[in-house]
Amino acid sequence: MRTYRLVVLPGDGIGPEIVATALDVLRATADLNGFALTFEEHQAGAGLYLQSGTNLLPETLAACREADAVMKGPVGLPGVRLPDGTEAGLLGGVLRGGLDAYANVRPIQRWPGMAAPTRFQPGEVDYVIMRENTEGLYASRGRGVANQWAASDIMFMTRPGVERICRAAFEMAKRRHGAPADGVRRVTCVDKSNVLRSFGFFRSIFEEVAADYPAIEADTLYADAAAQALVMDPGRFDVLVMENFLGDILSDLGGGTVGGIGICPSGNIGDEHAYFEPIHGSAPSLAGSDRANPLGQILAAAMPLDYLGEPTAARQIEHAVHTALSTSALTIGPDGCPLGGTVAAGREVVARLG
Ligand code: IPM
Ligand code: MN
Repeated sequence: MRTYRLVVLPGDGIGPEIVATALDVLRATADLNGFALTFEEHQAGAGLYLQSGTNLLPETLAACREADAVMKGPVGLPGVRLPDGTEAGLLGGVLRGGLDAYANVRPIQRWPGMAAPTRFQPGEVDYVIMRENTEGLYASRGRGVANQWAASDIMFMTRPGVERICRAAFEMAKRRHGAPADGVRRVTCVDKSNVLRSFGFFRSIFEEVAADYPAIEADTLYADAAAQALVMDPGRFDVLVMENFLGDILSDLGGGTVGGIGICPSGNIGDEHAYFEPIHGSAPSLAGSDRANPLGQILAAAMPLDYLGEPTAARQIEHAVHTALSTSALTIGPDGCPLGGTVAAGREVVARLG
């Protein structure tokens, strides 16, 4: 039988509850599709930091490298800080670099049953932000300088780094079906090349890579204009590619337009390794109360199935979520929490697989 080994990092706050729900969905999907999954859990994040002074043990990173894929819950606790004042539990710095997971794949989709602040309906918003994940402004993470009078973090971009994320964006567009508004396969490069040289560098490499993909429209947009267009005209977007920090901001903005990042999954994908997580945080105030919305984590559990070559199973999970929401079997309240709780929400999804 096809067997895939997943390392699971349940994380902090609501992490363990929503990850447990997502694992139930994965187990059920595997049964229905005739493959097997094994899960190896490792503690990582702020809780581990409090106990041991590190947020990720070397053996856990090694296990993540050896696994077929990694499923990660949200991590971090606001009070748990490093001496430099940044959060100690966050794993992006170690995992994205440590696994060279350079493509942060962030699908933004309008789902039924989610109250959203824009008029666009399900099917009308469906794009993917390809956020560069290993350099850009975040290359300064842990390396910036600050004293009482001044502070500096440097924007850093390399030719191979920009080239590979642009290529990943065009490859993504090839696999998709174009923008909802016009069906055109399109990659939009988002930058501030009108102001900063590093972004000019990014755009020129984007244009070089685009020349290798004549069947896909290459589009460019300044980041400020992109922020407006993502709210007012999201249907024109298919795939967007951008620097790390811009991608962090615009993916939350995109999540906001479809009803909040509580339902947004993401993949961190490199050439050798990948891990998958919801884009929201660990919401410690909801922890242990069976209130958290598990849908971001459940949809993040569909993504490794695509990555592992099980697209039927991945679509099955998405379809189950879609049906649960559209029939109101699963309702997300105005506070972003599922009515009936986390566990019941997971059950409604499992019941609609297959
Ligand atoms: C994300 C998160 C992280 C980031 C934080 C938690 C460090 O916001 O994955 O988008 O900024 O990359
Ligand atoms: Mn973010």
